[in-house]
Amino acid sequence: VDAMKGLILSGGKGTRLYPITYTSAKQLVPIANKPVLFRVIEAIRDAGITDIGIVVGDTAPEIQAAVGDGSRWGVRVQYIRQEAPLGLAHAVKISQGYLGDERFVMFLGDNVIQGGISRLISQFAASDWNCQIVLKEVAEPQHYGVAELDGDGRILRLVEKPREPRSNLALVGIYMFDHHVFEAVNAIRPSWRGELEITDAIQYLVDHGYRVYPYIHKGWWIDTGKPGDMLAANSLVLDEMEHRIEGFVDADSHIEGKVTVEKGAQVINSVIRGPAIIGEASRIVNSYIGPFTSIYHHVVIESSEIEHCIVLENSRLIDLPARLEDSLIGRNVEIVRSPIKPKAYKMTLGDNSRVGLL
Ligand code: DAU
Repeated sequence: VDAMKGLILSGGKGTRLYPITYTSAKQLVPIANKPVLFRVIEAIRDAGITDIGIVVGDTAPEIQAAVGDGSRWGVRVQYIRQEAPLGLAHAVKISQGYLGDERFVMFLGDNVIQGGISRLISQFAASDWNCQIVLKEVAEPQHYGVAELDGDGRILRLVEKPREPRSNLALVGIYMFDHHVFEAVNAIRPSWRGELEITDAIQYLVDHGYRVYPYIHKGWWIDTGKPGDMLAANSLVLDEMEHRIEGFVDADSHIEGKVTVEKGAQVINSVIRGPAIIGEASRIVNSYIGPFTSIYHHVVIESSEIEHCIVLENSRLIDLPARLEDSLIGRNVEIVRSPIKPKAYKMTLGDNSRVGLL
């Protein structure tokens, strides 16, 4: 796709994912062992776009260390520093110098979508539309931007997180614009929550006679803002992965269903029931790993059962007295059974941690 650019929004503060993102960027939390931000870069690259600007905030150093100059994906990445998370439209505003007059796709760095965006991009690139938005029917539209269409499927109104939604069509975090969007982001005022809203900018385009078209997405889509959404996205992505065993599985172990065992991983005397993924250099010993579980790299799981979980790097789960389910375990976490008396739960938990005991 000639002369179209990508703009990824990876600033903001991941407050809703505390404590997982207390110190780190939520866009770098892995889904099926690959950070959401990497999945976004790949979706844009696969649509034929090679110039990508990434808007970054407080977590800029961590994001730059992880993504670099983009050459790993065959793209050119430039960083655009946003001094505070002042809104999605604010992020567009400060990116004008980078984007120039070219058409671009803006992709929120925490969105995961089924099937990529190639068709969407080629449709927009070939059109004379000024803007295209992606909509998805959802059960709880009040958590998103919501679009109201007229009888011909044209956009009437966009409202950010309305208390009483007028439709069940949520705005997916993927938007295509031409340079007229800068007129809009410079004209609008901050909303009640103090942000320059992209929904208001798009409403401005509609109200001023620009050509704004919706695309109704049929596959799944997850905004990974909250821990529950992380697990949901993890399950959906795992379900679409291929069976791939590159690590070591001993003869006493059983692998059932679609399972990825990355290189350097070891599975000893254990049962792994897919879809599941075991990351690089992780060790699973005398354990059961159930469906919809992602174990990231350098993790140790011994004499334990876990299912429908995400476990991040360098964590150790040893001798758990009951099966661990529906859990998100951060980096360098240790959950072990201790013989030391008195017999009691002993924990060192970060701020805003949540533990459900038997
Ligand atoms: O995910 C779709 C939803 O995303 C849409 O339905 C909403 O209309 C849209 O406003 C947005 O809502 P969220 O409340 O989920 O946006 P959030 O604040 O989580 O920001 C989305 C991403 O953009 C996130 O990766 C952080 C980044 N961001 C956010 C702001 C506010 C920035 O880079 N800069 C910012 O100023």
